[in-house]
Amino acid sequence: MIIAVDGPTASGKGTIAKALADHYGLPFLDTGLLYRAVGFQLLRNGGNPDSPNDALKACEFSEDILAYPELREEAIGGLASRISIHPEVRAALNKRQVDFAHQPRGALLDGRDIGTVIAPDADVKLFITASAIIRAERRYREMKTRGVNVELETILADIQARDARDAGRTTAPLRPAVDAIEIDTSNMSVQEAIQSAIAAVDSKV
Ligand code: C5P
Repeated sequence: MIIAVDGPTASGKGTIAKALADHYGLPFLDTGLLYRAVGFQLLRNGGNPDSPNDALKACEFSEDILAYPELREEAIGGLASRISIHPEVRAALNKRQVDFAHQPRGALLDGRDIGTVIAPDADVKLFITASAIIRAERRYREMKTRGVNVELETILADIQARDARDAGRTTAPLRPAVDAIEIDTSNMSVQEAIQSAIAAVDSKV
């Protein structure tokens, strides 16, 4: 079984994806980490995120980067969103994701274009959403818990900019596959969102 989980930042898709992978015993790939690793490597190289050449060079990141906690930082997420616009970068990261999705044991991948580009043949495609303000509030609370000093308005503006970039790019824009099941988690608790995702998968297989 291949499960594709797509959606915008802070929609709850990461949490849902991990819970589903656990529930169905599937190998799991958070594809955002790959784009974040490229962003991190680009920073290390002193490259310009808007230069396709610099971004492509950063695709040769070393594997140990994938385990760095710094990849989770907002700044790296922002860089990831900028380098992910370049078709060259998407092409460089494509094979690894396609291979992971199509391993014999099945797989669950989360990202932006899993159901549309990486695994259009997925058995189940989920598109997880939530309103921008709810997503900003979630990110705000999570950052406060980690002791990061930040304004809600700044996070909301970042989220809106990231949404616009992810949905507006020409190559593999963020959008639900035609056969995706959409789950709006705005008014759901974490447990409700997970239960609703499991019910959606069970309805398809
Ligand atoms: O999901 P995450 O926030 O870690 O992703 C960081 C950025 O990487 C996203 O904002 C998006 O621009 C890019 N991304 C992508 N395609 C994916 C996963 C992530 O373009 N499959």
